[in-house]
Amino acid sequence: MEIQGSKGIFVGGASGMCRATATQFAEKGGQVAILDLEKSDGAAVAAELGGTFMPCNVMDYDGMANVMGEAVEALGGLHFMVNTAGGAVAQRTLKKDGSRHSLDDFRRIVDLNLIGSFNINTIAAEHMAKNEPNETGERGVMLNTASIAAFEGQIGQVAYTAAKAGIAGMTLTMARDLGMLGIRCMTIAPSLFDTGLTAGIPDEGALQLTKDAAFPKRMGHPHEYAVMAIAIFECAMMNGSTVRVDAGQRFAPR
Ligand SMILES: NC(=O)c1ccc[n+]([C@@H]2O[C@H](COP(=O)([O-])OP(=O)(O)OC[C@H]3O[C@@H](n4cnc5c(N)ncnc54)[C@H](O)[C@@H]3O)[C@@H](O)[C@H]2O)c1
Repeated sequence: MEIQGSKGIFVGGASGMCRATATQFAEKGGQVAILDLEKSDGAAVAAELGGTFMPCNVMDYDGMANVMGEAVEALGGLHFMVNTAGGAVAQRTLKKDGSRHSLDDFRRIVDLNLIGSFNINTIAAEHMAKNEPNETGERGVMLNTASIAAFEGQIGQVAYTAAKAGIAGMTLTMARDLGMLGIRCMTIAPSLFDTGLTAGIPDEGALQLTKDAAFPKRMGHPHEYAVMAIAIFECAMMNGSTVRVDAGQRFAPR
């Protein structure tokens, strides 16, 4: 799809990889709405990009329909939905003291990453379905964020791995469900990226965590996620896949 004149909703767009994607989308002539937590920098980011900010929480499933509805109204349509809202908990299947992984924690991480993503994809699809298709039959693109932990979860990442593998798993099925409408669905699985989420990792820790990458052996930069996200939006053949953006890294067990 062509970015010039297209409208995008960026969930998690106040920071990191989604912010970088919103920035590149706006620079190429797209119109943006930043959706993020109330306490985030969303208002400042939206102002910088000439867009609107709408506070939201992806775990408020019903509320997301209202917020996204208002965002679509403000934009005058929806062609691109990017989502990076997510997070992890560090806990083993059996903890070191022999007690079991908390079911509440497991469910919370699945709710935040997987159910949250599924919910906003259905809302986005409902809006995109109302678009007039472009000359090649396209109505919109939805992009979710997994992690390479979806495929090589490290020790203590079982909830996060299950949630992100769920996102990777639903991608092709959702693309097939929506194919007849000309709506594409893709997922990016990043390795370690230098964002708000990883801001607490010291330089030495980052070196250790990226030592198994083929090249480059460093954390990714948010704009490198954005380059892939924009390519996905622009290339109609990108559909139903989870693309690793990982410098050839495969996570070791720890
Ligand atoms: N940074 C990494 O190394 C890395 C690697 C693999 C996957 N990921 C995935 O990327 C996403 C995080 O993106 P980032 O690394 O750019 O981090 P980030 O913290 O810079 O940006 C994430 C944004 O999401 C927002 N957010 C968090 N919870 C939310 C909620 N419940 N509702 C609405 N907004 C919410 C945050 O306020 C923040 O602005 C997560 O899904 C994470 O699992 C990150």
